[in-house]
Amino acid sequence: MDFEGKVVIVTGSASGIGRATAGLFARHGASVVVADVDGSAAEKAAGELGGRSIGCKVDVSKDSEVRTMVELVADSFGRIDVLVNNAGFGFRGNVVSIAEDDWDRLMSVNLKGVFLCSKHVIPVMAKQGGGAIVNTGSYTAGIGIADRAAYVASKGGVVSLTRAMALDHAADGIRVNCVAPGTIHSPYFDKMFAQAADPAAMKKELDDRAPVHRMGRPEEIAEAIVWLASDKASFAVGSTLTVDGGTSIW
Ligand SMILES: NC(=O)c1ccc[n+]([C@@H]2O[C@H](COP(=O)([O-])OP(=O)(O)OC[C@H]3O[C@@H](n4cnc5c(N)ncnc54)[C@H](O)[C@@H]3O)[C@@H](O)[C@H]2O)c1
Repeated sequence: MDFEGKVVIVTGSASGIGRATAGLFARHGASVVVADVDGSAAEKAAGELGGRSIGCKVDVSKDSEVRTMVELVADSFGRIDVLVNNAGFGFRGNVVSIAEDDWDRLMSVNLKGVFLCSKHVIPVMAKQGGGAIVNTGSYTAGIGIADRAAYVASKGGVVSLTRAMALDHAADGIRVNCVAPGTIHSPYFDKMFAQAADPAAMKKELDDRAPVHRMGRPEEIAEAIVWLASDKASFAVGSTLTVDGGTSIW
């Protein structure tokens, strides 16, 4: 897969799946924009990638910040070939226990963030003759999972929005696809382990969600994202690629 001369924006790429994805794109020759609400971590990650990669502080839920980032990237690099809408987070709760403000905040990042970044990037891609967008969904959108109502709903929206955008923009040469990761050992889970009464028991429970009895690695999701963004996936349009160690078929 050759991304030499290509410009790639990965949101939420100061950590976890996004960080691994940014690294893999850079190793394939891309100039990567490490876009994250944690500006200093984004700068640090971009510095580690080297080459023409840059860090950019952006909250994907804020239209003005997203517009400014896209203008900066288009002006600096002259093009945007790939957008990975990866920024997201989750928390526990069902529809009775979740507070309205928490629901709104999660939806504004996990779902509205995909809308806003795509809204501003697609015209740039269309003008240059095409591009690829990969959204990070979740295996939970396909099967449901207890005590994560807002998160599962947001990722269901991401899968549906992937299909809608794929149809709307195929004629512009823009392919839109989604990766649905299983349970991946990212720093998000390190924080949860640190807070757990019994971290080892929690880790085992998460490992045992999959028939392979382990959590996935961020690098294993990065491989799928980079493939979907590459010319090798030229006939993948509106698809959701599940990479979950078999959790959703178990
Ligand atoms: N880890 C898993 O098991 C798993 C499973 C399925 C899907 N996912 C999805 O993968 C994506 C990445 O998750 P991760 O596990 O690598 O998490 P992570 O917490 O390690 O990384 C998420 C990154 O997103 C950034 N971010 C959060 N809100 C943002 C905002 N408003 N604007 C810009 N950046 C923001 C954070 O600063 C962080 O750097 C998320 O969309 C998540 O829902 C994760």
